[in-house]
Amino acid sequence: MCGIVGYVGSEDAAEFLIDGLRRLEYRGYDSAGVAIVCEDDIAVTRSVGRIQSLADRLGTPPPGTLGLGHTRWATHGPATEENAHPHIGGDGEVVLVHNGVIENYQILKDGLIEKGYHFKSATDSEVIAHLVAEGLSNTPAIEDQPHARYVTAVQWAIAQLRGTYGLAIVFRDKPGFMIAARFGSPLVIGVGRGEYFVASDASPIAGRTDRIVYLADHQLAVLTADGFSVLHRDSGKVRVNIQPLEADSGEVSMNGYDHYMLKEIYEQPDALRNAMRGRLNDQDATAVFGGLNLTPQQLRGVERIILTGCGTSWHSALVGEYMIEELARIPVCVEYASELRYRNPPIENNTLVFGITQSGETADTLAALNETKRKGHRTLAICNVVGSSIAQASDGGVYLHAGPEIGVASTKAFTSQCCVLAMLALYFGRMRHMSFETGGRIIEDLRRLPATIEQALTCDAEVRRVAEKYQSATNVLYLGRRYNFPTALEGALKLKEISYIHAEGYPAAEMKHGPIALVDADTPSIFIMPRGTTYDKVLSNMEEVKARGGPVIAIASSDDTEIRKIADDVIMIPEAPEFLQPIVSVIPLQLLSYHIAVLRGCDVDKPRNLAKSVTVE
Ligand code: F6R
Repeated sequence: MCGIVGYVGSEDAAEFLIDGLRRLEYRGYDSAGVAIVCEDDIAVTRSVGRIQSLADRLGTPPPGTLGLGHTRWATHGPATEENAHPHIGGDGEVVLVHNGVIENYQILKDGLIEKGYHFKSATDSEVIAHLVAEGLSNTPAIEDQPHARYVTAVQWAIAQLRGTYGLAIVFRDKPGFMIAARFGSPLVIGVGRGEYFVASDASPIAGRTDRIVYLADHQLAVLTADGFSVLHRDSGKVRVNIQPLEADSGEVSMNGYDHYMLKEIYEQPDALRNAMRGRLNDQDATAVFGGLNLTPQQLRGVERIILTGCGTSWHSALVGEYMIEELARIPVCVEYASELRYRNPPIENNTLVFGITQSGETADTLAALNETKRKGHRTLAICNVVGSSIAQASDGGVYLHAGPEIGVASTKAFTSQCCVLAMLALYFGRMRHMSFETGGRIIEDLRRLPATIEQALTCDAEVRRVAEKYQSATNVLYLGRRYNFPTALEGALKLKEISYIHAEGYPAAEMKHGPIALVDADTPSIFIMPRGTTYDKVLSNMEEVKARGGPVIAIASSDDTEIRKIADDVIMIPEAPEFLQPIVSVIPLQLLSYHIAVLRGCDVDKPRNLAKSVTVE
């Protein structure tokens, strides 16, 4: 969702701001803006639409070595220039950018209007700008403490906010000085030499410096070109943990692919290798995790697991449920994070709660984990983004190491999450009844997986042909059973989010209980049916659709020659054990939605209305 960049140093700020905003484009946005602090003024430029329109409007940017930038994904008020950030407080003495949502903005706004402040936008963010200006007007300067007045004004303002914020603030009368603050919306600081970068995630900073600070909730950073310090909102300085920044800027380029999504689909064999690196232990025929932060005794005592997440991550949770129940025999329950956070279900002692998330910033997943943690349960994260809010808030967890996922439609995060869940199933299974031999066989299966995915990717040309045939469909059904039921949901989600075709995923046998009414000559049904326990059953479901004149596409095992006699189109995938099939069978589904979206002229990496990190409820 919204993105923040900021620069303080000795170079022209505009170059970093525009480049940084481009790198944040993947998060999803509908307008953007920058503020550059010049001699005794702050030049603010805003524009609706893409960063290129902002760059065009900026023309030759004003010189200035301090500045802020923002991409906005509309929440309060439509996507207009007035609502775009940066927002100006008071008579122009404060300029800020804000990520997050302020829940009590209306009451604060009413109070500020009474005091004579004029609002130019419909946003909750402008309230913060005026509030800081009001704070400044009430705070006298303190001799020998040049920053104190500004810090006090910001502390006073943010203490009144209810909701979430990531903020970067500059002041007309204090050139070369910036304050950044965070609560519930991520903010990082890139530590350079004589220059500092602020951003809502590490991607704008990658390649500029290799040192990063992840601000924690309630922290506030004070930055000048000569140094920075971090304070707690209500108290004094805190010790800063400067961490190495691993990602280099090359990782976020498209490497010759037409879209990030396609690049990320093709990165899956390597992403899986990275997810497994150092985590498979042949000697004990089990998996090894360094970050669970629980003793073997605590893990052995786990009697139930809750897996929670949103969207694609919720789909991988469903795959995880099947894996863990089958291989480790521990009862698993899968919850939408948005429901779990308010549902207040009874949770027994010895329940372990995993939040599954690519970004580590999804507001509902974070809130669901915080709520279960508050009740005293152990919360762990399966997460891709290092240092993200969920990684910080949980008791421990497992990183995916999939590398940055830029395309809004999640691909390599899904398969990496499934792979981590398979390793967790092995780990918990080996703690209980699973034999050494079975553990060893699962390790072999997992090791073969990256090569299997490489082979699965060779279906690309065939998938493109199928995409051409069905690109004009307006409804598509995705059907699968057992491990391939979540794959059906994921295939349908991929298609609808990037090609805007209505699609539904169902357990294949459920079809007869309603969805079959949709079947007609214009509604293709995609059956995910590699060989396995329910193959014959799914074949019967396919016959039922055929009998009603519906076109059928089969995602089938490469040795299944018979299927061609029934299905209109067949996409072959390589063999894999049933518990790993979702990781293989999702490949043609990802490619199918990609090709259909391209053929329909859709913006594959930045689909309409969607954001990469959903940081609001
Ligand atoms: C779909 C997609 C979304 C995300 C969901 C959760 O392709 O990307 O459905 O899966 O918004 O995001 P994370 O995994 O970052 O918590």
